Amino acid sequence: MDRVEELKREAGITACSFVRDGMRIGLGTGSTVKYTVIEIGRMISEEGIDVIGVPTSEATRELAESLGIPLSTLEEAAPLDITIDGADEFDPNFQLIKGGGGALTREKRVAEKSAAMVVVADDRKQVNTLGEFHLPLEVRKDDWYTVAAKLREICPGQVSIRGGESPYVTDNEGYILDCDFGPTISDPSLLEGHIKSIDGVVEVGLFVGMCDAVVMASNSGVTTLLKQGGRLD
Ligand code: 5RP
Repeated sequence: MDRVEELKREAGITACSFVRDGMRIGLGTGSTVKYTVIEIGRMISEEGIDVIGVPTSEATRELAESLGIPLSTLEEAAPLDITIDGADEFDPNFQLIKGGGGALTREKRVAEKSAAMVVVADDRKQVNTLGEFHLPLEVRKDDWYTVAAKLREICPGQVSIRGGESPYVTDNEGYILDCDFGPTISDPSLLEGHIKSIDGVVEVGLFVGMCDAVVMASNSGVTTLLKQGGRLD
């Protein structure tokens, strides 16, 4: 396992300190939170904890099922006690860019219905200002071209459809537009509102006011950053 993978694993496992017997847990998507899901599977089989997971993607559902984690839907299980998920970037205000794995819409629905959200990440994801990572948007298939044209009016860099000529299709049968804003997103809430007002946009990969803690792994160890005044403070 290379060092980056080790860091992801450390962050993913450490985040399970937030897991308690009886919880309903939103299970995020990605290569870091995968280790959280595996650890929850271990806690069920070896420690006998009793939890219910709500997966944020088909990939996570398959992984969780293979580990014997009891699953439910958001509709049946909400409100959830906690969501643990990865992120592509987080800033000092615990604002996030998500959607690198294309699951942003379900991830946001699940996080919105959770009493708290914990992000697992390595320190490459920590930024001062969001936007170095391309901002993903989920768009309705039929509208992607007109949405991309509108985005080009406000986005200083490239706006591209994920997958190019063979577009990536989300679990909701949508497409993803990746928008290269550069590290300019100082008011993510404002930008999110603006983009969501464009017809054809399903969801924006900006998560504002949702994340309460970041479990961050770096070469000097794992640090849990708690948002002051957040729901886990
Ligand atoms: C999926 C996501 C992921 O959580 C995000 O892309 C981080 O993934 P990874 O841990 O693989 O870097 O938002 O839609």
